[in-house]
Amino acid sequence: MARDELLDASVVDEDFDAEGIDNQGLIADHAGLRPTSLEDFVGQPELKRHLSIILGAARNRNEAADHLMFAGPPGLGKTTLAYIVATEMQTQLHTTSGPALERAGDLAAILTKLSPGDVLFIDEIHRLSKQIEEVLYPAMEDFELDIVLGKGPAARSIRLEIPPFTLVGATTRIGLITGPLRDRFGEVARLDFYDVDDLQTIVTRAAGILGVEIDEGGAHEIALRSRGTPRIANRLLRRVRDVAETDYDGRINHEIAAIGLELFGVDALGLNKVDRGILSALCVRFAGQPVGLSTLAISVSEPTETVEDVHEPFLIQQGLLMRTPRGRVPTPAAYEHMGLAPPITTDDGQDRLFPRT
Ligand SMILES: Nc1ncnc2c1ncn2[C@@H]1O[C@H](COP(=O)(O)OP(=O)(O)OP(=O)(O)O)[C@@H](O)[C@H]1O
Ligand SMILES: [Mg+2]
Repeated sequence: MARDELLDASVVDEDFDAEGIDNQGLIADHAGLRPTSLEDFVGQPELKRHLSIILGAARNRNEAADHLMFAGPPGLGKTTLAYIVATEMQTQLHTTSGPALERAGDLAAILTKLSPGDVLFIDEIHRLSKQIEEVLYPAMEDFELDIVLGKGPAARSIRLEIPPFTLVGATTRIGLITGPLRDRFGEVARLDFYDVDDLQTIVTRAAGILGVEIDEGGAHEIALRSRGTPRIANRLLRRVRDVAETDYDGRINHEIAAIGLELFGVDALGLNKVDRGILSALCVRFAGQPVGLSTLAISVSEPTETVEDVHEPFLIQQGLLMRTPRGRVPTPAAYEHMGLAPPITTDDGQDRLFPRT
């Protein structure tokens, strides 16, 4: 699978949202599930507080807000926040992405078209080329653009002024962002997985928008199994709604939610088939021994990036998988979740496949 396809949230997360931007830069999430104001954005209280201060202060000074970076696993709300920044600042949002910017001229064309205070959203910003990054530095810092005209000895460089703007970057890989780029952001915010209460609020809100009748028990059950991720919560809600409409009277309660989730292969912790495949490979095939990322990825037939960006963060957060210098290992909780007996640890601290007799 191509890397682009891979990072496309709809592929990675099998998202059913037709998300995108229309000509006016407005949100075209067909179901309108994407919150459009900071107030509607559920959870992440610290991040919301920081944003409301940064954006409020900039608005009062009539300035462009400082550059912002949002980092975290897919589906936690990075793109949503970029839209919200533009809405809260009452400016235009322009979107592009790291891989879409091939030459310095591509970036120059976008930057020179901005109006003062506009928001430029660069998704997958960790995939910017070195060359583009260097054009970005003076643009972010001094709102200036150095353009080289011509080639060889005749080449000359001219400096253009660009309007003050706010750069919003999103990345699933904060570790790949270079120091100099990172330092030029006024705030680098990491999004965490959402807790069950927040997810329950998200499910209830989405059900309201979709016109689905759901009780507290039903919303709670979906929230519990959403891998801490709003996008997955919304998707599971739609799948459970399908089941409720097909086999029942359309209303969702705890029991119907559980039946629907079971039907779509989501287990009690919200792990999907690939998550369980990873745990099973670690516990059974590799018998608890440390496994390298690429071996693990091959054993579940997934690209290494998907395993690293999508599956591992949640398994680590759930305390099911550990990264050690020698490789990935399952925790005792992983054995328990998979209904397996953990390997026996001997006095010398070595795990053994078979107990000594
Ligand atoms: N805090 C939130 N409150 C309510 N809904 C949310 C929240 N965060 C995300 N969502 C929902 O989850 C969906 C996915 O969010 P979003 O597209 O912003 O994720 P992302 O972090 O950009 O993911 P990716 O890394 O895959 O691009 C949104 O369409 C929105 O409906
Ligand atoms: Mg996104």
